[in-house]
Amino acid sequence: MKFNFDQIIDRHNTNSVKWEYFPPDVLPFWVADTDFAVDPAIIQSIQKRLEHPIFGYSVDDPELINAIVQRMHNFYGWEIGAESVILVPGIVSGFNFAIRAVCKPGENIIFQTPAYPPFFHAPQNNQVGSVLNPMRFNPESDLYEIDFADFESKITPETKMFLLCNPQNPTGRVLSKTELERLGNICLERNLVICSDEIHSDIVYSGNHHIPIASLSPDLAQQSITFIAPSKTFNIPGLSCSAAIIQNEALRKDFRRALAGFSSGVSCLAQAAGLAAYTQGAEWHRQLSAYLEDNRNYLLDFVHREMPAIKTTEIQATFLSWMDCSGLQLPLSPQKFFEEKAKVGLNDGAAFGEEYENFVRLNFGTSRATLTEALEKMAEAINRS
Ligand SMILES: Cc1ncc(COP(=O)(O)O)c(C=O)c1O
Repeated sequence: MKFNFDQIIDRHNTNSVKWEYFPPDVLPFWVADTDFAVDPAIIQSIQKRLEHPIFGYSVDDPELINAIVQRMHNFYGWEIGAESVILVPGIVSGFNFAIRAVCKPGENIIFQTPAYPPFFHAPQNNQVGSVLNPMRFNPESDLYEIDFADFESKITPETKMFLLCNPQNPTGRVLSKTELERLGNICLERNLVICSDEIHSDIVYSGNHHIPIASLSPDLAQQSITFIAPSKTFNIPGLSCSAAIIQNEALRKDFRRALAGFSSGVSCLAQAAGLAAYTQGAEWHRQLSAYLEDNRNYLLDFVHREMPAIKTTEIQATFLSWMDCSGLQLPLSPQKFFEEKAKVGLNDGAAFGEEYENFVRLNFGTSRATLTEALEKMAEAINRS
């Protein structure tokens, strides 16, 4: 079956945060959900569950847990036991629980910037400090790279956790085996728990390969909490179905303790959706990845040609583009400029770290026609300014 990712679906009046946040004349290209209709198998799975008229609290569905175990084996050759998988109602809540499980107030966590904004909020929520390790843009590779010396030098006895985002939001990096091993070895030497947010691991473009850091060695498996979810890939983030993989029994106990009282589990409808995504969604996922790769190529080509003052990077994964707009020399923030002058709603780079005020993030998980319309409006606004 051929799925139609070109279809334009009106999302107004569906309480979509993406489509309700900006005024109606602004095209939204910000928060990371996509505008694609989900795989019909997901809808059928939810419909089947709706046939039973009671929607009580749920336990983790063993079929979904098994699907996750199988997926890690099939995709990465990573062998995990069913007991190591815990469903959580979102990765953001998941890494908040992980911080509570690992850190005491006054201790700190380290992570790379630019960073997904909740990486800044989660330590604050838990009276824990943040240590920032800015990535460096390398014009030769056209990629953001890890500054290992800075990473190592900033770890103190109070640093208890490394919060990793791989593939990385917003830079679109897929960290290589060498980079992951180097980071992993530092964490093992300095006894940092690795909390790895791998929510974007299914949208990885040709020539790149995602590796869960915990799969690299038994020691790293024992030191890690890994988060995955079908949400970004299969466009079901509003259903809140995510999973933590924790192979270390003591760490798992601490995580469960941190979770108690905060979460009443993942709803039966969310689990039905997650199960269908992971067990029946392979073909839909394959076609989506091809469509997004074309969108990525189209976007990068358009920006290079029509908006050469904006610097993009190679996008190895995610449906997000991190754009350096310093070259435009705008009198106001690029987010405001594009919202007001182009009527295109982007993420403000400053939310990803204070030194990124001249950056915007663009979500290209939409139909080619809508993407084209937004890019043309952005180019026209620049030409008029
Ligand atoms: C890196 C990253 N982690 C987590 C999330 C959100 O996860 P959830 O909706 O499961 O809390 C996002 C969404 O954009 C993300 O980009």
